[in-house]
Amino acid sequence: MAEKVTVRTLQKMKERGEKISMVTAYDYPTAKLADEAGIDIILVGDSVGMVVLGYKSTVPVTMDEMIHHCKAVVRAVNRAMVVGDMPYLSYQISVEQAVRNAGRMVKEAGVDAIKLEGGKEMAPAVKAIVERIGVPVMGHIGLTPQRAAISGGYKLQGKDAETAKAIIDDALALEEAGAFCVLFEFTTAEVAKIITEKLKVPTIGIGCGPHCDGQVLVLHDLLGFYETAPKFSKQYAHLRQIILDALRTYSGEVKAQKFPAEEHTFHMPPEEHERLLRMLGE
Ligand code: KIV
Repeated sequence: MAEKVTVRTLQKMKERGEKISMVTAYDYPTAKLADEAGIDIILVGDSVGMVVLGYKSTVPVTMDEMIHHCKAVVRAVNRAMVVGDMPYLSYQISVEQAVRNAGRMVKEAGVDAIKLEGGKEMAPAVKAIVERIGVPVMGHIGLTPQRAAISGGYKLQGKDAETAKAIIDDALALEEAGAFCVLFEFTTAEVAKIITEKLKVPTIGIGCGPHCDGQVLVLHDLLGFYETAPKFSKQYAHLRQIILDALRTYSGEVKAQKFPAEEHTFHMPPEEHERLLRMLGE
């Protein structure tokens, strides 16, 4: 069996200049495929809310929902590091709340690490989670969807020098607090490059250009599950069409009485069938 990816594995990959692959997954079958494909980190993202549960944003996702999905992913994975995303209002209220819920992710769901959104302001929570309960923390800065309402929606971050500097300061604060990795979302490539060069810990980007130590995509965007996807993601397959074709063909065959055919049908031995009919008086 391949060796489990740990914080140390990822650190060594950064030092060797080896890129890290990361993808989201929310259930047993897709996590099993991602692990088999050699993906290094599987993120059970709070994007589960929009991608799988049909919410309009990630805000309604609860700890119990996250734990349910994390458990399914953990059961599927042998090699990849599994990171559980902390949902909205599960860590922002107090350091104690952040520590308790990070602990739940590990104790109840069995994840290897947690991710939370926020920069400097979250540093005390990151430090407490790492130092008090020994749970590895991945920071998430740049575009932070849980705060989309206050930050003006899903917009490119770090376009001017001031906001770029603030994102860099956030990354440094997270590293200082003990984060083992910093993920940033929809941030200019220039900022991503500076942060990746400045930080000792690995960086992971989504919509941040090629300079990060690793890349993450939302599985359903990558697989082409929906008609639309963010413009920074790439579709490596077009599953929507494949699934629609399969379901339409199935429905058509049921209605045309082509399915199930003889090869999908199982019979009683003829003598037992005869006996049954006699028993029933037919
Ligand atoms: O929840 C999620 O899928 C994420 C990724 C966008 C990184 O946080």
